[in-house]
Amino acid sequence: MNPKKLTGEKAADFITDGMMIGLGTGSTAYYAIKKVGEMVRNGLNVKAVPTSKETADLAAEEGIELIELSEVEKLDITIDGADEVDPDFNLIKGGGGALLREKIVAAATERLIIIVDESKLVNKLGDFLLPIEVTPFNWEYTQKMINKMGATSEIRKKGGEIFVTDNDNYILDCDFGKIENPEKLTIDLNTIPGVVENGIFANMAEIVVVGYNDGKIEVMYK
Ligand code: A5P
Repeated sequence: MNPKKLTGEKAADFITDGMMIGLGTGSTAYYAIKKVGEMVRNGLNVKAVPTSKETADLAAEEGIELIELSEVEKLDITIDGADEVDPDFNLIKGGGGALLREKIVAAATERLIIIVDESKLVNKLGDFLLPIEVTPFNWEYTQKMINKMGATSEIRKKGGEIFVTDNDNYILDCDFGKIENPEKLTIDLNTIPGVVENGIFANMAEIVVVGYNDGKIEVMYK
């Protein structure tokens, strides 16, 4: 049993005809998108906003109609993965580098449904390095400002080159140790000029669907 597939497909149960939905990014969201594609081919009528170029490509391949966020007031639900989930449903996201679009889409959503395998559940956020999207302009200075807040950080690289996001920005992966107050940290980080967005999603998720290695699925409500 693949727990990512279990949780991704289970979350698709929340989608009903006529909904406007957000589609997340990553290896767990992949299964939700595939399931939505199957449902669309079976007659489901939905319109979707993707959270990355990768997801836009996959959704288009699956025949899911894509729209811009500006075309809707609100999205009914968004289904997305996470790198860590704490007991209050605070999240770290951005392992795949899509955190900015993911947060914009999540903020425009009535019900954010997070899909994770059991390895993502933690008591306190912070073992997973916190991704922070920064402008390429003077990123080293922005990094110093972040480090002054108590972090050590590294610029994200891929294939030896600096990783560039869908928004042409860079990512700093930051170690703050255990994060005692995610809500405060996310606000403080976003006051640093040069920080575009950070990967803490505090008080955003309403439902967390967990896939366990033994094939169990748990749907948790806030
Ligand atoms: C993408 O930037 C991330 O926020 C993903 O949602 C998160 O990293 C979870 O990805 P996986 O489902 O691949 O672990």
